[in-house]
Amino acid sequence: MRMIVAGVMSGTSADGINVALVRLSARGHECPRYTLLAHAGYPFPAPVRRAILEMMNAEIARVADLACLNFLLGELYAEAVAETVRKHRVKLDLVGCHGQTLYHQGVASRFLGRKLAVTWQTGEGAVIAARLGVPVVSDFRPADIAAGGKGAPLVPFLDYLLYRDRQVGRIAQNIGGIANLTAIPMGASLPQISAFDTGPGNMVIDAVMDELLGKRYDRDGRVAASGRALDEVIARLLRAPFFRQKPPRTAGREEFGREYAGRFLQICRGASKADVVATATALTARSIADALQRYVLPHFASRPQRHGHRHAHQMIVSGGGAKNPTLMAMLRDEIAPLGIGLHFSNEFGIPAEAKEAVAFALLAHETWRRRPSNVPSATGAKRAAILGKISYA
Ligand SMILES: Nc1ncnc2c1ncn2[C@@H]1O[C@H](COP(=O)(O)OP(=O)(O)O)[C@@H](O)[C@H]1O
Ligand SMILES: [Mg+2]
Repeated sequence: MRMIVAGVMSGTSADGINVALVRLSARGHECPRYTLLAHAGYPFPAPVRRAILEMMNAEIARVADLACLNFLLGELYAEAVAETVRKHRVKLDLVGCHGQTLYHQGVASRFLGRKLAVTWQTGEGAVIAARLGVPVVSDFRPADIAAGGKGAPLVPFLDYLLYRDRQVGRIAQNIGGIANLTAIPMGASLPQISAFDTGPGNMVIDAVMDELLGKRYDRDGRVAASGRALDEVIARLLRAPFFRQKPPRTAGREEFGREYAGRFLQICRGASKADVVATATALTARSIADALQRYVLPHFASRPQRHGHRHAHQMIVSGGGAKNPTLMAMLRDEIAPLGIGLHFSNEFGIPAEAKEAVAFALLAHETWRRRPSNVPSATGAKRAAILGKISYA
C-alpha cells in the first residue's frame, strides 16, 4: 500500500519549519521504499523565533506561554504543510511532526528522589490533525526514553535505509544547530550502526553572529572566510568533558546555547570579529573530525584503496551547515587526512535541508504500520519501540 506522508521538522536552531512530502510504499515486513515528492522551508517570523528561544530558557518560561506556544506551533506546522500540499497538488494521508524541542535530558538525572531521563517537544498534534484532516504522529522521542534510551538520535533509521553499503563505510553527518552523525560500517546490519552528537553545529556560529554583528547566521560563510581560526582556543575548548564523553551522547542548547557562546566570546576577547566567527566555524569542523578519530574510525574496517578511489570512507553531509562553504572547506580539510571523502546528501537524492523532515515522514509511516523505528544501538534503548503518539482528524 502506498501513502503520501508529510514530514515536519523544526530543529534546535529555531530557524523555521522544514516540510517534506514523501511517498512511501511497503509490502509486508520489508523496508519501505520512498520517493521525495517535494520539500519546502518556512522561516519563523522573528517574534516567534524569539519566543521559542525564550521558552527554552527555564528561567524565563511561563507555563501559560508554554501552553500557548504548543497550540501556536500546531497552527504554524499545519499552515506549512497545507501550503506545501497546495503548491504540489498531492493528496496527503499522514503527517509526522517532530515538534520543537524545549528541553532534552537524555541521561537520567535526579528529580525528587528518582533518576529520570526526560524530553519535551511542543507543537500540538491534535491541532495539526484538525486543520489538515489527516492523522498526525507526533512526540516521537518519549517512547525510546521509556524503553531505556536517550530519546535521540532518531534519524539513524533513515540513514541506514539511505546509505548502507557493502563496499564503503559511511558517516551520515547532519549539521543543524547541533551536529550529529550516524556511522555505518561497510556491510553493517542495523545493530552495528552507531550514532551520537559530535557537538555544536551552527549553534555557536549563529550565536556569535548575533552577538557581534546582529545577524541570524553567517550567510554563505562569508564572515568566517574573511577571518582566521584561533587554534589555541579550539584546542582548549576541545578539552571540555563533553568532547571526551564516550558515545552515545547527546547535546542541545543546554550544552552549546547562550551560556556557552558567552564563555566562547570571553575566551576569544581581543580577536577580530571575523576571527571569532572563523573560530566558531572551525570548532564545529574540528570537533567532528576529533569524534571520528576517537570513536568511529577504530570500528571501521579498513578497506584496500581501490584504484581511482581517493578515500577509504565517505562522509555525507546534510542540514543547514551544508550551505556554509567555509565550514564545508574546513571539514573537508579535517577529514581528508583520516581517509574520508566529503559528499552531500543531495548526491543521494535528499536535499541537505530536507533530510530530517524526510526522516520524520518515514518514522510516522512506521508508527502508522505499528512497526518500531528507534535504533537501540544508537539511542541505548533496551528494546525496539514503536515511536510517537497519534492524533486522529
Ligand atoms: N546559506 C547559508 N550559509 C550559512 N549558513 C547557513 C545557510 N543556510 C543555513 N545555514 C545555517 O543552518 C542553520 C539551520 O540549519 P538546520 O539544519 O535547519 O538546523 P536545525 O535542525 O537545528 O533547525 C542556520 O541557523 C544557519 O546557521
Ligand atoms: Mg531548522
